[in-house]
Amino acid sequence: MRIPIIAGNWKMHKTAAESAAFVKELASALAPYANVERVVCPTFVALAGVADALRGTGVMVGAQNVSAAESGAYTSQIAVGMLEGLAEYVIIGHSEVRQYLGETDAMINAKAKLLLAHGLKPIIACGESLEINQAGGTDAHVRGQIVAAFEGIAAAALPKVVVAYEPIWAIGTGLNASPEFAQQVIGSVIRGTLTSLYNAEAAAQVRIQYGGSVKPGNMAEYMSQPDIDGALVGGASLAVADFTTLVSIAAEVKGA
Ligand code: 13P
Repeated sequence: MRIPIIAGNWKMHKTAAESAAFVKELASALAPYANVERVVCPTFVALAGVADALRGTGVMVGAQNVSAAESGAYTSQIAVGMLEGLAEYVIIGHSEVRQYLGETDAMINAKAKLLLAHGLKPIIACGESLEINQAGGTDAHVRGQIVAAFEGIAAAALPKVVVAYEPIWAIGTGLNASPEFAQQVIGSVIRGTLTSLYNAEAAAQVRIQYGGSVKPGNMAEYMSQPDIDGALVGGASLAVADFTTLVSIAAEVKGA
């Protein structure tokens, strides 16, 4: 059975001090749900404080990006080695990073391989724009993102890889994808593509999240879908009560 994974992507919210105080409260609220992987992804400046505050709690830390270069003269960038010991997960391929920071499929693939080589786990985000969705191009677009992201990644690494399907039109808009649509893209397109790239057994080991306006009120419907293993959550991860409710629903629906 795939272990459910709920990750909070805080984006550009919460100072270092706010983040450290927040996770102390969050960790005790999340303590009863040890069978769900619980991850918070603060900004880089808050990573060290959050990692300290969460040590021994079972709640894990994720970073929101990493450089595709292992080291070198890259002003403003964060090297993979700098994240070791601070984070277990790193989000790559987020649509906001693709859009505002020019992250390409090739960079995402390079980052995924670099993270795995350093013992860090990528959360590879993918998803289509409203225009692509309305033109009926979702499946081809997402399939292309998955093929590019996984190029050269060995089947043995797949249990360490998480994919997050986040339709861009559903992020921060309140317009969440229907659970049936999300299941179709996640099951048929993403897991289906992984099955053709590897095999069914390997594809079954990849955990795939849905993201985009996930809230306590719609979480159970997503978790009831067979191929949806968790959620990547923006807005609703910024409040202890909401995030805890999301984790508790995942635990209940998935029987974890
Ligand atoms: P919201 O949950 O705020 O829609 O954000 C989703 C997201 O982008 C998580 O990475």
